[in-house]
Amino acid sequence: MPQAPFPMTRHRRVRASAALRNLVRENELSVNDLIWPVFVRDGQGIEEPVASMPGVVRRSVDRIVEAAREAASLGIPAICLFPYTDPALKTELCEEAWNPDNLSNRAIKAIRDAGIEIAIMTDIALDPYNINGHDGIVRDGVIVNDETVEALVKMALAQAEAGADILGPSDMMDGRIGAIRAALEENGHSNVTIMSYAAKFASAFYGPFRDAVGASGALKGDKFTYQIDPANRLAALRCVERDLMEGADMVMVKPGLPYLDMVREVKDRFGAPTYAYQVSGEYAMIEAAAANGWIQGEKVMLESLMCFRRAGCDGVLTYFAPRVARILNG
Ligand code: PBG
Repeated sequence: MPQAPFPMTRHRRVRASAALRNLVRENELSVNDLIWPVFVRDGQGIEEPVASMPGVVRRSVDRIVEAAREAASLGIPAICLFPYTDPALKTELCEEAWNPDNLSNRAIKAIRDAGIEIAIMTDIALDPYNINGHDGIVRDGVIVNDETVEALVKMALAQAEAGADILGPSDMMDGRIGAIRAALEENGHSNVTIMSYAAKFASAFYGPFRDAVGASGALKGDKFTYQIDPANRLAALRCVERDLMEGADMVMVKPGLPYLDMVREVKDRFGAPTYAYQVSGEYAMIEAAAANGWIQGEKVMLESLMCFRRAGCDGVLTYFAPRVARILNG
């Protein structure tokens, strides 16, 4: 990047006024970049706070419909559903995951029936339904891959039947994207999209989420045999390439801020629609520091989301979505 030496070049010239700064700004954060993850629980008229995520609640299906309506009116393009499943419904084989009337599928249908124009994204993984708390079926202490993929395919088809637009496999089993894509094609769902959690790392930043969906109590051990080692860059790139080759329409890097190097590299190498998940622990850290008066929460929230854009994200899953949208809408 050639440039004239000082004083012919003064970088501060174009920073001198808001007008100049607006003119030279390279990236923009827009409401169109937001995907809002929400937690669903049973009951009626309930909004129950999640202790480890101040400002985030679990909503009963009727309230989820209201949340979707609000998101749509703010211009947020997509909402992503995560169920808090009644522990009594959790089993070894996770059958509740593909029950057409499970919490998540009921919420999808309710949003669809209300005629709300918003894309509905789902989570495909067995952890909310698993008595063992893992994303896959556990046999003799081993998370079994191929049997889990069969269960995930059933889960995907049930979500597509319910009316989901974007399926989000977050389980990190091998071969699941290809299996889900093939099943969607065979069953008349060729327009249902897949956003693969392709570069999903085994991260401690997911802690508050596991509380939110009630999986922390059940989880024995860790997820290191299926999620990617945070030290591994090439392994993550190979997973992204593999998922795109198997039919993913969009790919995700997760967690977000500590993994922005991966976002940049994934976007540059593959050019596919690329997303990141600003996960629960990232949200909780910003909220906690803001609550203590240690940082200005709103500014940090906006800055962090702009950084995702600068890194190459086409969009971000963020618990801040409605708050940000209100600010961006003015
Ligand atoms: C589970 C899943 C997780 C998240 C999304 N789907 C947690 C995990 O893998 O343990 C994390 C989201 C967050 O932390 O906000 N399949």
